[in-house]
Amino acid sequence: MRTVEWNYSTSQFQMIDQRLLPGEFKVAVYDDYGKVAQAITNMVVRGAPAIGAAAAFGLALAAQQSIAKDIENLRADLITASDCLKEARPTAVNLAWALDRILSATVDIHGSADHLREAVLIEAQKIADEDVEINKRMAAHGAKLIDDGDTVIHHCNTGALATVDWGTALGVIRMAHEQGKHIHVLVDETRPRLQGARLTAWELTQYGVPFDIISDNAAGSFLSSRQAQKVFVGSDRTAANGDVANKIGTYMLALAAHDNDVPFYPVVPTSTMDLSLASGDMIPIEERDQAEVLGLTLLGRQVPPEGATARNPAFDVTPHRLVTGIVTENGVVYPPFDINLSKFVRPFEG
Ligand code: MRU
Repeated sequence: MRTVEWNYSTSQFQMIDQRLLPGEFKVAVYDDYGKVAQAITNMVVRGAPAIGAAAAFGLALAAQQSIAKDIENLRADLITASDCLKEARPTAVNLAWALDRILSATVDIHGSADHLREAVLIEAQKIADEDVEINKRMAAHGAKLIDDGDTVIHHCNTGALATVDWGTALGVIRMAHEQGKHIHVLVDETRPRLQGARLTAWELTQYGVPFDIISDNAAGSFLSSRQAQKVFVGSDRTAANGDVANKIGTYMLALAAHDNDVPFYPVVPTSTMDLSLASGDMIPIEERDQAEVLGLTLLGRQVPPEGATARNPAFDVTPHRLVTGIVTENGVVYPPFDINLSKFVRPFEG
């Protein structure tokens, strides 16, 4: 199944509960948009494109839940639901992008409320289907950057689980493997939620791609000892100048890659670009509950002493000077990003 999908026989929304993987494969089912918003916050679903598609289907649920009999009241309910869903997580721009896209694509719908309900679901499904197609196009562009025999460092999870299907940076790696290139992946474990050790390792096992999990702080050593030739990551929001917000730890990885002349490639669908922001300083960075950092156990015991406190930013911003090229569905963009990025982003045609 896809990571997120609409069940047309029950008119419910369902998604893989990523908190439980790899130990348990469970599908969570929703018929309430407020619960979808909570599931995004709690990371039942995570990864920027998957969050965007989940929010889109959440809005389709809101349309279904609304008791409005006329189109104007339904539209008002959709705006309320969209505002609620947008609050779920702040950094991934796909969330607001998907909701705004549905609201603007349906602005000219007239007639019955049911007509609008149907149009919202059609647009949500379109967003989901396009995501898969876009990922495969990005993968084809990105795979050309990987040579036979390369070892690639990858951060967080950017695979099928982070998207509707296939993946962004991990999709590039998967494509290169399917093309017959012999590649090896060093999987950053990705503290504190361990998306690398849990989800990326689980996906790579299924694709048959050889890998080793490394602790995040080992990446610099692998880069300086020439044991890795490329770095591929995803993004939650990329600003107009090419600054890239992604999972915490990406910035340190990019610094180490730059210091060792190892190419660093974010793989970024244009739905993840926010050209309204001139630079990465303006990207809102989510700070999550300190319990995610403090909950670490070793030999069955809690690691930090009682009363310890923690800081837990979920993302950081990698400045564009550290970025070799940005892989998009329309091709690979190279510096100067402030000039070139906008040429690759086609405006949304509602
Ligand atoms: O906190 P998460 O797991 O949602 O963070 C995900 C990432 O940082 C990914 O790299 C990003 O969303 C791009 S993946 C397609």
